[in-house]
Amino acid sequence: MSEFKRYLVTTALPYANGPVHIGHLAGVYIPADIYVRYLRLRGRDAVFIGGSDEHGVPITIKARQEGISPQDVVDRYHALIRDSFERFGISFDIYSRTTSKIHHQTASEFFRKLYDDGKFVEKETEQYYDGEARQFLADRYITGTCPHCGNERAYGDQCEQCGTSLNATDLINPRSALSGSAPVMKPTRHWYLPLNRYEPFLKEWILEGHKEWKANVYGQCKSWLDLGLQPRAVTRDLDWGVPVPVEGAGGKVLYVWFDAPIGYISNTRELLPDTWQDYWKSEDCKMVHFIGKDNIVFHCIIFPAMLRAEGSFILPENVPANEFLNLENDKISTSHNWAVWLHEYLDDFPDKEDVLRYALTANAPETKDNNFTWKDFQDRNNNELVAIYGNFVNRALVLTQKYFGGVVPEVAELTDYDRETLAGIAAIRASVESSLENFRFREGLKEAMTLARLGNKYLADTEPWKLIKTDEARVKTILNIALQLAANMALLSEPFLPFSSARLREMLLMPQTAWDCIGNSDLLAAGRQLGEPFLLFEKIEDKAIETQLKRLADTKVANEKNSYRAAAAKPDISYDGFSTMDIRVGTILEASRVPKTDKLMKLLVDTGIDKRTIVSGIAAYFTPEELPGKQVCVLVNLAPRRLKGIDSQGMILLAEDADGKLIFVTPEKAVTSGVAVR
Ligand code: MF3
Ligand code: ZN
Repeated sequence: MSEFKRYLVTTALPYANGPVHIGHLAGVYIPADIYVRYLRLRGRDAVFIGGSDEHGVPITIKARQEGISPQDVVDRYHALIRDSFERFGISFDIYSRTTSKIHHQTASEFFRKLYDDGKFVEKETEQYYDGEARQFLADRYITGTCPHCGNERAYGDQCEQCGTSLNATDLINPRSALSGSAPVMKPTRHWYLPLNRYEPFLKEWILEGHKEWKANVYGQCKSWLDLGLQPRAVTRDLDWGVPVPVEGAGGKVLYVWFDAPIGYISNTRELLPDTWQDYWKSEDCKMVHFIGKDNIVFHCIIFPAMLRAEGSFILPENVPANEFLNLENDKISTSHNWAVWLHEYLDDFPDKEDVLRYALTANAPETKDNNFTWKDFQDRNNNELVAIYGNFVNRALVLTQKYFGGVVPEVAELTDYDRETLAGIAAIRASVESSLENFRFREGLKEAMTLARLGNKYLADTEPWKLIKTDEARVKTILNIALQLAANMALLSEPFLPFSSARLREMLLMPQTAWDCIGNSDLLAAGRQLGEPFLLFEKIEDKAIETQLKRLADTKVANEKNSYRAAAAKPDISYDGFSTMDIRVGTILEASRVPKTDKLMKLLVDTGIDKRTIVSGIAAYFTPEELPGKQVCVLVNLAPRRLKGIDSQGMILLAEDADGKLIFVTPEKAVTSGVAVR
C-alpha cells in the first residue's frame, strides 16, 4: 500500500437542520465508510471523523420559523442524524457536534492564532441593518423584488424563481425578514482571510502537486484558481455561532464555513485527547476529506489556506468529492421534501441496510450526477444481490448441508479448472484493492461481485448435483472449493456490505479475518461444522416499491400546491361592466364525450330558461356518467361558438386547481335551475 503510518478520514459535517438522505449517503458517507472499513481490515491505523455542523444562518431561520431556539433545532436533528448513521452502520470513531465546548475552544484558538499572527485583514463595509430588530441582516434575512424576473419574494442571496444568485444590495424594495421594516445601510467591521496571498501556494500544491485528484475536483480547483482569489470575510454579525475572540467584537461570530472544518480537528481532539496530534500534525498521516461537490472550494482552497496560515497542521492528501445524486430524475431537496430519508428507509426496510448501500454504491455519482430510482433499487436487489451473491452462497451451503450434513468436505484432487478458479480470488482481490485505493468505489463493488459470479459459474460448470450419485469424492472437492469462495466473498465484500458479511460469517461459523487472508483456499478447514443456512438476501416485491413511489407522487402534488402563486389581478371594471354578465345556476342533464377529442365534453344543461347544449373542456377530469344531476354555474349570455361541429351556447364556470385540474363552481346547496349568480 502506501508509505503512510496513519489515516485521518473525515466526512462533511451535515447541517443539523434536517435529516440525512440518500444524496448524502451516496456522495459522502457510504464511500468514506467503505474506505475506512477497508483500511481497518488491512490493519491500518485509521480514525474516522464525523459530526454535525450546527451553526450558520439557516439554523437560525428554522428556529425562528418554528418558534424555538437554534439550540433546540440542532439538538433535535443532531440526535436524529447520529442515530440514523449508527443504525445504518456508518462506522465513525466519533460523531460529535460543533456546539460542543471543545469545538468552540478549538475554533476560537485557531482564529486567535491567525489574528495574533497578523494573518487577517480588517475591513469596514456597509451592510444592511434592521433598525427595529437592532441587528445586522444576513443575506437570507432580506427579501425583496428580484431585479431579473420581478419575483417579489426573492432572498438577499438568491432568487428561487429564476435561480439567479444575488447580493442583498441588488434587491429592489428590500425588507427585513425579522421585522418587515426597510433595512438601512450601516458600517460594520469584519476580518478577512486574504486568499489572494495563498494563491501561489495553492496553485503549486494542487495544480502541480495533486494532478491525481479526481477530474471533477481538480477541474473545479483550477477554475477557481484561474479566476483569481479574493479576500474572504471569516466573521459575521450574528448571535449564533462561535463568538469572535477579539476585544470589542460583541455580536459577531465566526463564519460557519470558518468554524465547521475546524470541527474535524475538534472531534479528533475529543476522541483522542492525548494523541490527536499524531494525526493532525504528522507527515506520516494521510488525511482524506469525503465531501459533495458543493463543498470543494471550502475543502480544497479555503480550509487548506486556513491550515497553511496556522502553520502546524497537515493538508489533505486527497479530496474525493462526488457529484450529486438525483431522485427519480429530480434534484433532491430538503425543503421540498424530495428525498429518501435515511431514518425512514431504515424503518420501511428493516435489515436491508446493505441493499441501500449496494444500490447507492453501484450507482454512485462518482464522475457525473446520477439518478436514484426505486425501480433500479429493486432490480439491483433482485437481479444482483439475490440472484448472484445470495444464490451462490445459498447453493454452496445447502448442498453441503444436504450431502455432508453441513461439514466442510475434504479435497481429494484438484483439477486445472479448480486451480484456475481458486487463482481467480487473488486476481479479484488485487483489482478491488486498486479500485479502493483510487477511490473508485463503484468499480470496486463491481469487481467484488465478480467473485460471487465466479462461484455461480463454478457450480454451474461442475454440476455437483449430477455427480453426487457417481463420484462423491469429486463432489467433496467441488463443495470445498465453493465454500472457500463463499468464505473469501465474506471478507472481500465486507467493506461494501458489512451486514451481509457478518451474516455470511455466521452461517459459516467463521470469525472476522484479516483482509490479507483473501485468496487463501483453506479459510474453512475440512471437517469443520457449518451453521444453518438461511437466505442472505430476499426478493423485494413490487408492492414495497409502489408504496415508495406513491409517497413521492404525493409529495409532488403537495409541492405543486404550495408553490402556487395567484396571478396578479386584472384591471378594475365598473359594476355595470360586471352586470352585463348573466350567470345562472344550471343543472346538467346529459353528458357525452365529443368524439376524436381528449378534452371536450358535450353537455345538455337545464338553465331554467331553456335546455341547451354546451361544450366544455372537462373530459380529462370527469366521466360522462358522473355528471347528470350536477349543479353548475353557467354564463348564459356568452355568444354561441361552434366547437368541433357543435354549437356551444354559453360557458360552464370552472376553477383551475394548483396542479391544473378543473373543478366545477357549484352552489353550496341545491337550488332551482335558473337562479342568478351575482
Ligand atoms: N454543513 C456543510 C454542508 O452540508 C458541510 C460542512 S463540512 C465542514 O454542506 F468541513 F465544514 F465541516
Ligand atoms: Zn428572479
